[in-house]
Amino acid sequence: MDRIRITGGQKLHGTIPISGAKNATLPLMIASLLTDQILILDNVPRLADVALLQRILGNHGVDIMVNGKRPGETQYDGQTLHISAANIIDTTAPYEFVSRMRASFWVIAPLVARMGEAKVSMPGGCAIGTRPVDLLIMALTALGAEIDIDRGYVIARATNGLKGGEIRFPKVTVGGTHTALMAASLARGTTVIENAACEPEIADVADCLNKMGASIHGAGTARIVVEGVPKLSGARHRVLPDRIETGTYAMAVAMTGGDLLLENARADLLQAAIDVMRAAGAEITETNAGLRVARNGAGIAPVEVTTSPFPGFPTDLQAQLMALMTCAKGTSHITETIFENRFMHVQELVRLGARIQLDGERATIEGVETLKGAPVMATDLRASVSLVIAALAAEGETMVNRVYHLDRGFERLEDKLSACGATIERISG
Ligand code: UD1
Repeated sequence: MDRIRITGGQKLHGTIPISGAKNATLPLMIASLLTDQILILDNVPRLADVALLQRILGNHGVDIMVNGKRPGETQYDGQTLHISAANIIDTTAPYEFVSRMRASFWVIAPLVARMGEAKVSMPGGCAIGTRPVDLLIMALTALGAEIDIDRGYVIARATNGLKGGEIRFPKVTVGGTHTALMAASLARGTTVIENAACEPEIADVADCLNKMGASIHGAGTARIVVEGVPKLSGARHRVLPDRIETGTYAMAVAMTGGDLLLENARADLLQAAIDVMRAAGAEITETNAGLRVARNGAGIAPVEVTTSPFPGFPTDLQAQLMALMTCAKGTSHITETIFENRFMHVQELVRLGARIQLDGERATIEGVETLKGAPVMATDLRASVSLVIAALAAEGETMVNRVYHLDRGFERLEDKLSACGATIERISG
């Protein structure tokens, strides 16, 4: 199993190219199941989750061609995928796949909408809370799907196709909104989605679906209206930049000091996080090339933050912010409202010398002068990268074990950081 060794204390200087967003890429790839024509996706990041979804879609009969490098491209340019779901040969998504990546459950929506049936394993437990799929099932039921749950599988049927309807989510859910959008695009009649997730990745997927011939209005707001169409066609779409990767490297330079250009990053995708980082002392400026983030001189100021759905502060940056606050000049509070049990990084940060107390969903972080390197264990995607951020500023050596979590969501993390002066290397095996 690969490990990452970091020797802390270097400031970060240089340019980090921001990859395409993982959380848009996955539903965009899944949306390819809605059409028998070719969907071309540009700026697809090279991530373990993307490779796994390629295999999962392959199991349904989807052919995916990955373009090789073109002249003039750098190693960081995203991939182009040509995805063809002309022949769906299997409408079952087995446990061995869905249990490894929750988002693969979302194939249920395009499969039932286009093929009239889908049998998809329940995702099962997850390191960051129970994460049920009841609201995804509710959305499909509202569009006329008949649902059975049998031996750990959700079986959805709509023999005569789905029918438009009203979906009112009692709680904001990104996966529920993706599912509803994909299903409603091929349903007969109008669907209204209330209390929809407003995350930029929802708008990106809706944009792509509209290019494929769907009729979706209001994506990116809490009320989305979809006029169903009988058939969708092929399209070409470029994945938007990853706001979580952007925020992560911004926190890293706020932690170590230095000056980074985050190429291709877009401020409008993470304004709440930018406001928090500015309050903490980071200097952030928008340029034509992306976002410039620097911290020189002054220390890190403590903050009070509560995670919430977009446009609020994202739960996917909570662990990284906590790493930053471990060295603040004073006491910070971070409240996690989206997922229960998303504080697995706390014990590992404490191993590096952080002072953190947990009280239910609220963490109190008392800033310390310096962290000290130690062996730590990565537990989930965002938690692992918070350990990397802390290690970059810690005195001495930190070994981050179980880095496969990082590979799920961060493209060439160690290359990007070492190119900017960090002492970081991957140890294979
Ligand atoms: C997506 C993101 C993930 C991010 C999360 C919240 C992807 C691939 N993943 O996950 O990185 O952290 O949004 O921004 O885009 N819930 C239910 N019932 C359901 C579905 C969800 O109760 O049927 C609850 C969840 O337990 C959680 C909350 O709703 O408490 C939000 O979850 P959701 O927005 O659905 O997260 P994901 O789509 O799984």
